[in-house]
Amino acid sequence: MFAALESKHNVRKAFLFSDIYAEKIGQIMSDTIWTPASWRDKTALQMPTYPDQQALARVEDQLAALPPLVFAGEARQLQAELAEVAAGRAFLLQGGDCAESFDEFSANHIRDTFMVLLQMAVVLTFAGQSPVVKVGRMAGQFAKPRSSDNETVDGVTLPSYRGDIINDNAFTSEARIPDPERMVKAYNQAASTLNLLRAFSRGGMADLHQVHQWNRDFVEKSPALERYHDLADRIDETLAFMKACGINPDSSPSTHETRFYTAHEALLLPYEQALTRQDSLTGDWFGCSAHMLWIGDRTRQLDGAHVEYCRGVNNPIGVKAGPTTDPDDLIRLLDRINPNNEAGRMNVIVRMGADKIEEHMPALVRKVQQEGRSVVWSSDPMHGNTIKACTGFKTRDVNAVLQEMKHFFAIHKAEGSVAGGVHLEMTGRNVTECIGGRFEITEQDLGDRYHTFCDPRLNADQSLELAFLIADSLKEARG
Ligand code: PEP
Ligand code: CO
Repeated sequence: MFAALESKHNVRKAFLFSDIYAEKIGQIMSDTIWTPASWRDKTALQMPTYPDQQALARVEDQLAALPPLVFAGEARQLQAELAEVAAGRAFLLQGGDCAESFDEFSANHIRDTFMVLLQMAVVLTFAGQSPVVKVGRMAGQFAKPRSSDNETVDGVTLPSYRGDIINDNAFTSEARIPDPERMVKAYNQAASTLNLLRAFSRGGMADLHQVHQWNRDFVEKSPALERYHDLADRIDETLAFMKACGINPDSSPSTHETRFYTAHEALLLPYEQALTRQDSLTGDWFGCSAHMLWIGDRTRQLDGAHVEYCRGVNNPIGVKAGPTTDPDDLIRLLDRINPNNEAGRMNVIVRMGADKIEEHMPALVRKVQQEGRSVVWSSDPMHGNTIKACTGFKTRDVNAVLQEMKHFFAIHKAEGSVAGGVHLEMTGRNVTECIGGRFEITEQDLGDRYHTFCDPRLNADQSLELAFLIADSLKEARG
């Protein structure tokens, strides 16, 4: 009797043990085995709840059968270029809309932003005497994290707008329902955008002489930028010298063409999963919705779904680092996504705010240096500097943006690390969304051409002006 009881007890113990064991094994397996769908076992913040799950599944199948937007070889090339940035031999310029929209989609809009990015790149190339890696927040930057799930206007509460790929900005309950069909529309818009960007990059729009001429016109129009006439003159001389040496579009296509990459926040994981493809050459997985993907400040939890998705694709991955980023957590995040510490794979995008960066960034840089992790440090001087104007508009002051940039460069100088790049919300259009700049846009002016559905962007003038100002810091850092 006693023996029988004893053996029953042992069986029970064995069961308990095997349960715990199974759970542990499960945990280890889910930590190591990555699939394009493994994010589904993790907590996914900031994700819409689609009311029609069948419609969602249909769209996912449809997207999975469509061609990839980018190719593995392109993402690998970008990683190689970013490795140069990490080593201080190139500079990363990343910019574009906070959120692309279905309504603002036009060839002119894409062209204008592309042109301003190229103009900025010429200034920065000259200042840093090194190549500029150009990455647009374009062709996929549709989904937005929100600080609140709901929005209340005049006592009416509705689900928040989460970007055109998810729902509509109109303040009606109908418009705010997440609609999976929007993913197909976003894919098509991204495909057309990329097609145009590829044409602009190769078809003469990137001609160095032409781009420099636009910059000349810009500095000549603005007395406040007089001190940059000298820089423009020196670029003129360099171009004349190159011409005299026989360097022209025929002998050297690089004066006439450029490489332009795309990136967006990998927020809407069903879309990202559907566009994940296996490289036929290496068997490696790539997120084929863009060359580079980044994880936002609100979704960078180590055990969260967004980190899980990004750790398995071989694209360069950005991670936003805000004032709440802990240095040890950052190392854990880098190790999870980039366990082999590959150069050019990780981009830490610092977005602290002009008044917080000096307090929070040095510890991050020090820890990464101490632990010997290779990262591209870039500065997003936009997201920590959003304020509400007295007129009610969400805005940013160009001075605060510049201030954060300057601190970013100074901290790298002090720590002996590399200030790798900038990440800006900007547009080639003449909007009035950020205050300041040489045309001194005031809070009262914001209503004139405030077109953004999301965060305020620098306009073309403000972006170029910033490029000239960054050029000063870059020249000092790399001089
Ligand atoms: C963004 O880049 O648009 C964004 C939402 O940034 P963050 O995650 O840094 O807030
Ligand atoms: Co934004």
